Amino acid sequence: MGEPAQDIARFNQTDRYAALMDVVRNRMTNRAFAPYSVPREHFEMIVEAARHAPSGANAQPWHYIVVTDPVVKQTIGQCFVDEQQHRARLHMGFPTPNYNGVKTAPGLIVVLADFRFVRAFPVLNDGSELDRLYHQNAERILLQSVAASTMSAHLAAAALGYAVWWITAIGQEDIQRQIKPLLGVPEELSIIDVMCFGPPAKPSYKRWKKPLNQIMSWDRFNPESTMTVEQIDEWVKTTRHKVMYRDESKID
Ligand SMILES: Cc1cc2nc3c(=O)[nH]c(=O)nc-3n(C[C@H](O)[C@H](O)[C@H](O)COP(=O)(O)O)c2cc1C
Repeated sequence: MGEPAQDIARFNQTDRYAALMDVVRNRMTNRAFAPYSVPREHFEMIVEAARHAPSGANAQPWHYIVVTDPVVKQTIGQCFVDEQQHRARLHMGFPTPNYNGVKTAPGLIVVLADFRFVRAFPVLNDGSELDRLYHQNAERILLQSVAASTMSAHLAAAALGYAVWWITAIGQEDIQRQIKPLLGVPEELSIIDVMCFGPPAKPSYKRWKKPLNQIMSWDRFNPESTMTVEQIDEWVKTTRHKVMYRDESKID
C-alpha cells in the first residue's frame, strides 16, 4: 500500500487521460488516402499496440498480415468494390461507401481470427444443447477479444497521425475464398476485417456520437435510453446515412 498522497497522485493523472482522449477523439474513419510510404516501423508500432490487448483466457486468437504488394492491394480492393456492387443489386438499402480507397491505401493490414480458440473458453464440447449455448457465448468472447486488439491497433495508427478505416465487409465466405489464397491464409483461420490507414486525402470529420447520458446508467438501466424496434427502423431510414457520412456539426 502506498502513502495516501501517492494514491491520490495515481488516480489523478488527468494529463495522461487528456493525452489518451486526444487520440481517442481524433480516431476518425476516412475512406480515401493520400499517397504515402508507411515506414515498416510504423506497421510494427501499430501491431505492437494490438499485441497488448486483453482477450478471453488470454488466448490472443488473432494474427495481423501487413499487405505491402500493390497488386495484392488492388485485388483486395476490387473484392470490396465488387461486394459493394453486389449489395446494391440485392437492394439491401445499406448506404455502402466507395471502396476504391482500399486499392491504394498506404497502410493495409488484414486481421485474422482463429475461431478454434472458442475451445479455450468455457464450453462442454459434447454437442449438447447446453454446449451450444456456451459455444454461442464463446464466439462472442472471441469476437470481443479480436475487436479489443484491433481497436488498439487503430488507436496506435491514430496516435501516429494517420486516418483509419475499419472494414468488415469481407466476412462472407465467397470473398474469404478469393482473398485467403492471395495471402496464404490457412483454411482454419478467418479474415475478420481489414484495417486501412494513411494520411487523409481530405481532412477527416467527426461523426455524431451519442451523448454520455444516453449510453450510461447508474445502478439501474435507464429505460429512456432504449428504443423500440419501430424507432430503430425509423432511425435506419431517416438518420443512419447522416451519421455515417456527415460531420456531426452538419446534422440537422
Ligand atoms: C466493427 C466495425 C465494422 C465496420 N465495418 C465497416 C465496413 O465494412 N465498411 C466501412 O466503410 N466502414 C466500416 N466501419 C467504420 C464505421 O462505419 C465507422 O466507424 C462509423 O461510421 C463511425 O465513424 P468513426 O469511425 O469516424 O467514429 C466499421 C466499424 C466497425 C467498428
